[in-house]
Amino acid sequence: MKFSLALPLLFASVSATPICDDAQRSSFPKFCDLLDLASSNEASLADDLFALPWAAIQKELDVEAVEERRLEEGESALPIVVAHGMGDSCFNRGMKSIVDATSKKVGSYATCIPTGSTRIKDTINGFLLNMDASVDVFAEGVKADPNLADGFNAYGLSQGNNLIRGYIQKYHTQDGYPKVNTFMSICGINAGVGAFPNCNPEDHKVCAGLTEVLGDLAYNEFVQGILFQANYFRDPSKTDSASYKKHSQIAQWENEGDDVQESRNEGFGMTSKYVWVLGTEDTVVWPREGEVWGAMDPSDPFSTKLAYNETNWYKEDTFGLRKADEEGKHNWESFDGEHIQFTQAELMGWLEKYFM
Ligand SMILES: *[C@@H]1O[C@H](CO)[C@@H](O)[C@H](O)[C@H]1NC(C)=O
Repeated sequence: MKFSLALPLLFASVSATPICDDAQRSSFPKFCDLLDLASSNEASLADDLFALPWAAIQKELDVEAVEERRLEEGESALPIVVAHGMGDSCFNRGMKSIVDATSKKVGSYATCIPTGSTRIKDTINGFLLNMDASVDVFAEGVKADPNLADGFNAYGLSQGNNLIRGYIQKYHTQDGYPKVNTFMSICGINAGVGAFPNCNPEDHKVCAGLTEVLGDLAYNEFVQGILFQANYFRDPSKTDSASYKKHSQIAQWENEGDDVQESRNEGFGMTSKYVWVLGTEDTVVWPREGEVWGAMDPSDPFSTKLAYNETNWYKEDTFGLRKADEEGKHNWESFDGEHIQFTQAELMGWLEKYFM
């Protein structure tokens, strides 16, 4: 990982983890315990996050086995940005191997943009730095890398896709931020999650906190201001509620909340190609069809699923999904596996098809 000189400075703007006041502590005792842990022993919290069985890429790719592409005269390959999932960090061996294998395969510069300056901070910020704030740090990281100045391709794993998607919708319309040409979302949480089914509070401290606040308590300013997973928690039975529309970050991103902004559609329209990858056996993201923009039917939120083109965000084109479809930008892929457990061959195949 190489950092430009500007990058450490930008992490300085990330504020310290908040400490709960008495009222917050009585409403959210377990969540406040986690915030305390983040202050007192951040290494322990980072380890707990990394240990979530479904969160991080814990195996390394076999970089040696990747055939190196050497560009011919006249050939070029856009640089590639990779964004990691929850519990992971750009500084872990698994992510480093993904970046190295990607660079070798495509014959281009590749990098992972972190939202914290160290393994521990990058891991914790994927949890306790809210989604909007994380996008802002990610955007400054992109801007600070001179290799990306003329545009880039990007792919994410799990919630890493939210950083890229947020960047597309917020920063494509701003001067000085390079554009994403092709965005490949692997098991992305762009449509949110309605539950965290594999998070057992008995096994993980992190899950005790998540379970406490991801329910009726998710849509308030305090939790939304901190917790990345609350920001994309989308309870399909509550999408009409005033608190969801007012406080939920994902509601604003889909332009289904109170703060509707046309610039989000504009930004989404500036990407040339989208690749949406579904894990057909994914038990982490519910409903897994959200990875390809499906959703639960709000009139029957716990049993009927809508395909991407039956959803409100498609039919009303709330943020640009339909327009991109009409322009032929969408590509759909799947692999038969659990959340982000694609094989090396599958990843290399998608890179060859879409990034070369
Ligand atoms: C949705 O798209 C599928 C193809 O992906 C198509 O077969 C179907 O007719 C479309 N449905 C609607 C409601 O447009």
